[in-house]
Amino acid sequence: MSKRLRKVVFPVAGLGTRFLPATKAVAKEMLPVLDRPLIQYAVDEAVDAGADTLVFVTNRYKHAIADYFDRAYELEAKLESKGKDELLAQVQGTLPRHVRAVFVTQPEALGLGHAVLCARPVVGDEPFGVMLPDDLILNEDGPGALRQMADAAMSADGGVIAVEEVPRDQTHKYGIVAIGEPIDAHAAPITHMVEKPRPEEAPSQLGVVGRYVLPGRIFELLEQTRPGSGGEIQLTDAIEGLLHQQQALAYRFQGRRFDCGNKLGLVRATLHLAQRDPELAPAIEAFLRTN
Ligand code: UTP
Repeated sequence: MSKRLRKVVFPVAGLGTRFLPATKAVAKEMLPVLDRPLIQYAVDEAVDAGADTLVFVTNRYKHAIADYFDRAYELEAKLESKGKDELLAQVQGTLPRHVRAVFVTQPEALGLGHAVLCARPVVGDEPFGVMLPDDLILNEDGPGALRQMADAAMSADGGVIAVEEVPRDQTHKYGIVAIGEPIDAHAAPITHMVEKPRPEEAPSQLGVVGRYVLPGRIFELLEQTRPGSGGEIQLTDAIEGLLHQQQALAYRFQGRRFDCGNKLGLVRATLHLAQRDPELAPAIEAFLRTN
């Protein structure tokens, strides 16, 4: 893969059942971590990686995501007339001007693999990124996780999949990879991949997390993928198919991941950022000491 990563797909059509009842009306990706919705952190990371086309795979309940990235003329006019320039810049800055957002509907929640397949007409056959916004990854002192992976993809031919060491008793929550001889401190070729194995069947403790760089070839494999674990069309199964044709690397990114797909992870991410905010930190520390 030698081209720059231009397109990134955000599969955000899931039902978000772990945040019910909030997600009855609010898309999970719009839940805030401090003052920004989860999706904003992912979009910033994609733009940092060089993307100029963001493909959101949504369902018919998720208008809020499109509204969020759209212009808000009345609000902008009001902020401008009141001279609230800093707020205006924030409202206008959700998406840089050179980046376009494309919205595609997944008619039925048939699984992550199916959601990615829905983006095919926009992506075509070039390499692309996939980001799951509920994995919030912060690398405060360096490039974002997707940029690190895009750089690794320049020298790889197949795909690059983000992995992280997970506790043995948690393997049933992840796609788990087996790897060959490491290429460097971060990357190793994947030899095998299993979706949500029981601990005793897991080939390692390296769990796949929500960042992928994939070749366009994955779409053909997704077309042929039948429902797997949980009755859903799994991205992991298509990547396992890819491994028979091309190399894919497991990539241990630099940065800290918060699994904001569940309540504990969302609270942790919020606290982490609040403790790093000079205005909030003293009050948060005092609260944590006395609560
Ligand atoms: P999750 O497994 O986290 O499911 O999906 P979910 O529906 O978002 O949340 P819970 O488990 O019910 O609380 C992983 C990612 O795949 C997307 C989700 O939006 C999320 O980003 N997804 C999943 C789809 O876009 N379509 C699907 O059919 C399934």
